Amino acid sequence: MKDKVIIVTGGTSGIGAACARHFAGLGARVVAASIQREEGEALAAELRETGRDARFVYCDVSDEASVRDLVATTLETHDRIDAVHANAGVWGKGKVTEFTEADWDKLMGVNVKGTLWTAKHTIPVMERNESGGVFLITTSVASQIGFPAHALYCASKAALEALVRCLANDHAGKVRAVGVSPGTIDTPMLAASCEGWDAPVEELYAAVEKKVPVRRLGQPEDIAKAAAFLLSDDASYINGTILTLDGGTMVLPPW
Ligand SMILES: NC(=O)c1ccc[n+]([C@@H]2O[C@H](COP(=O)([O-])OP(=O)(O)OC[C@H]3O[C@@H](n4cnc5c(N)ncnc54)[C@H](O)[C@@H]3O)[C@@H](O)[C@H]2O)c1
Repeated sequence: MKDKVIIVTGGTSGIGAACARHFAGLGARVVAASIQREEGEALAAELRETGRDARFVYCDVSDEASVRDLVATTLETHDRIDAVHANAGVWGKGKVTEFTEADWDKLMGVNVKGTLWTAKHTIPVMERNESGGVFLITTSVASQIGFPAHALYCASKAALEALVRCLANDHAGKVRAVGVSPGTIDTPMLAASCEGWDAPVEELYAAVEKKVPVRRLGQPEDIAKAAAFLLSDDASYINGTILTLDGGTMVLPPW
């Protein structure tokens, strides 16, 4: 990871912030991008104070021009991109019968279109490198489960898993495409998804912890460590693969 230029979208909260911290701690030059200007500036300042190389760039991934600007700003500073972690995402509840076009635009716009723009504008830059590059997408176990009242979120994450496989072929020999599929990870998004239930968050978390085979919630750092491996040269034979990080939830028996 040493000196590698790595963009992390959604790199200012939860999983993305943990990834930005971890990659920077390993010596990478990190560009954390998101729509959270205050959190982003604070995170970059915190990392620079401890001698890490990190900066924040405002980027709304659903807006192609904003992604273009992110790439241009990164190149102005670092002149290259070695890896990208397309992690920005939004969560949304609802059945297909309840969705409006605005819901579609938000969820698919950030999760799918945003990842697509990120790939479109960073992969050609990485293809110019002698050493190529890596494009990592945060998907979700939601891509494989019919979570009740989560139709659009699940569909958006399934689309991302298809994208990992397509990118792995389309940019073969130059850019590896990989995915991380988190289970239940303790982040602001998870807390938000618990709102409106008939029990306090702590009780809901305790119930999940009882079920997950490793008997705890995932922490953002669990994803960061796996992501660092997938982005590293040690994973150079891993391509088109999505690594599930769910403490064993997906192998629970269905009864
Ligand atoms: N927390 C979980 O249990 C869990 C499980 C599976 C997958 N995920 C996925 O992990 C990723 C990170 O989620 P998290 O749990 O850390 O949530 P989070 O809400 O803490 O972080 C989401 C990040 O995405 C950014 N973002 C949102 N809209 C954006 C936009 N338009 N442009 C750029 N950035 C934008 C936010 O600013 C934030 O930094 C998401 O893709 C999410 O779907 C989370």
